[in-house]
Amino acid sequence: MPEIALKFSRGCGNPTGFADLQPGDAVVDFGCGGGIDVILAAHKVGSQGRVIGIDCAPQMIERAKQAVAEAGLQDRNIEFRTAYLDKTQLPDDSADVVISNCVINLCPDKDAVYKEVFRILRAGGRIAISDTVFTESIASELQERFQSTWAGCLGGAVPEDDYWRTVKEAGFDGIQIVSRHLLTPEELEAMACCPGEEFTPPPSKEDRVAVEGKVASVKFKALKLPVK
Ligand SMILES: C[S@@+](CC[C@H](N)C(=O)[O-])C[C@H]1O[C@@H](n2cnc3c(N)ncnc32)[C@H](O)[C@@H]1O
Repeated sequence: MPEIALKFSRGCGNPTGFADLQPGDAVVDFGCGGGIDVILAAHKVGSQGRVIGIDCAPQMIERAKQAVAEAGLQDRNIEFRTAYLDKTQLPDDSADVVISNCVINLCPDKDAVYKEVFRILRAGGRIAISDTVFTESIASELQERFQSTWAGCLGGAVPEDDYWRTVKEAGFDGIQIVSRHLLTPEELEAMACCPGEEFTPPPSKEDRVAVEGKVASVKFKALKLPVK
């Protein structure tokens, strides 16, 4: 894995580790960042497969392209698009698998993002996602203060029940939680202060402590069932 992909990796899981990717699969990485999961996916789907990385930040797309070149994968079927995740402009029913690693919590309209994921997946396609959630409802003023640190990895996190409702209402079936890890105080600090003070103000220590034990990183899979 090239140094640049490791340096800019900001995930909270390893979706390619549990997505059961097969040679030839068409995979879309929602919020590809510096490209680490695009590279891992490209190795799994092989030269007959296809990987598309989507990110709204052109700087991250440039880093991801560099990482792919440094990984020696420039001849593979890999494409990057700068887009918001609720408007990817990918065709309907075009992907076998959508992966995403610690991104959808950052999106203000999660319903729209999951509907977009559902739209671009073929019937029988699947998702493999890592994301962060609150394990319970938290006080609205506390949540609002986290939202003021939106670019941090907790700014847009929502309670877990709301998250699963969003996934189901988008049309997904068979949600299978692969793992669910309560963040330790150290992990919470790193996550809440990501991507760094120069980009977003970190939450106060009091607010961070107030959500200790209430933030989980979840890894899950779900299916777009074929229409009967
Ligand atoms: C925490 S980083 C994770 C990046 C990558 N998945 C990884 O594991 O390293 C979040 C990424 O999501 C992108 N992002 C955040 N909100 C987005 C949105 N609404 N549409 C597209 N990309 C978004 C950011 O630009 C950033 O690259």
